[in-house]
Amino acid sequence: MYKIIILIFIITVVFIEFPAAGLEEGGSSFTYVGSKVCRECHGEDAIGNQYKIWAMSPHAKAYNTLLGEKASEIAEKYNIASPEKNSKCLQCHATGKGRVESIVKEGVGCESCHGPGSEYHKASNHVDYSSRENGYRRAIRFGMYPIRGIGSLKRRERLCLSCHTKERPCFPENPSSIYEFRIPIQTIDSLWKGDVNFRHPLRK
Ligand code: HEC
Ligand code: HEC
Ligand code: HEC
Ligand code: HEC
Repeated sequence: MYKIIILIFIITVVFIEFPAAGLEEGGSSFTYVGSKVCRECHGEDAIGNQYKIWAMSPHAKAYNTLLGEKASEIAEKYNIASPEKNSKCLQCHATGKGRVESIVKEGVGCESCHGPGSEYHKASNHVDYSSRENGYRRAIRFGMYPIRGIGSLKRRERLCLSCHTKERPCFPENPSSIYEFRIPIQTIDSLWKGDVNFRHPLRK
């Protein structure tokens, strides 16, 4: 009888503890590895070279922007000496709010939008050559944000607007400024900027 009770106890602990760890959305269980890890595969033309597309985009320059003159001007108003080291700026200008020192300079990297990749970056956790949907679903279980496709428009919008908000220290003071027109989600979700298409073409 005792053995059975102990066994039930162990099973309960295992089942309560284990799935809970995996369900935390982008929370403490998954960590950031940096865009260079994604490049190992997503730098291949065969699957669309999303790395190259990203590297040409403003997101890849978001950290460098904090080193510029304009950033200093803004920072001064908030009594911030070094915007490139301050969480009030890095919060949106770097992956994972800039808390991971080794990848701060990549700016807004892959994982800012796709979720912390410590588990899903492994091929076995996010690639299924016979069924892309299966691969996608598995990746989500391992920390990838579900932001793809029309069905996820709302989630995607929330993601983009979490940084593209008027409540940011760098939002221009002059409301008639052209910057205001950059904010609406229609602009953001068009995913185009000059010659850069954020849509990352991939096999259909
Ligand atoms: C070991 C190689 C490999 C690594 C490393 C890798 N990926 Fe992938 N990823 C793939 C392949 C292959 C696919 C599926 C391509 C296809 O279906 O044509 C894919 C698919 C994806 C998808 C699309 C999922 C879907 O179906 O919509 C996203 C998003 C993605 N990867 C993001 C990332 C990010 C972010 C990283 C880095 C944290 C990363 N990947 C690292 C190989 C890799
Ligand atoms: C982690 C914060 C963050 C998230 C999430 C984010 N962005 Fe950005 N985005 C930025 C920053 C910071 C810049 C400015 C980069 C620079 O020029 O230094 C930027 C710039 C841009 C630009 C260029 C704007 C311009 O006019 O120069 C576009 C377009 C854009 N983002 C689209 C998107 C879309 C679409 C999404 C959601 C899928 C998104 N962003 C999610 C932080 C973010
Ligand atoms: C809530 C998110 C967020 C925070 C916090 C934030 N930024 Fe930004 N920043 C953005 C986004 C998004 C853009 C791109 C806006 C666009 O082009 O549409 C941007 C753009 C910029 C630009 C380029 C603006 C231009 O006119 O060319 C500078 C400079 C800048 N930020 C500096 C800072 C500094 C300095 C701080 C800290 C005091 C800071 N940001 C904090 C989200 C943020
Ligand atoms: C600013 C946010 C943002 C950044 C940064 C970003 N992505 Fe994406 N990515 C998206 C969004 C949004 C989609 C889904 C677009 C859709 O479904 O229309 C996507 C789709 C993808 C897909 C699937 C493409 C497809 O055809 O459906 C892959 C693969 C991918 N991203 C890889 C990457 C990699 C690798 C990086 C870094 C080198 C990266 N992404 C950086 C927002 C981003």
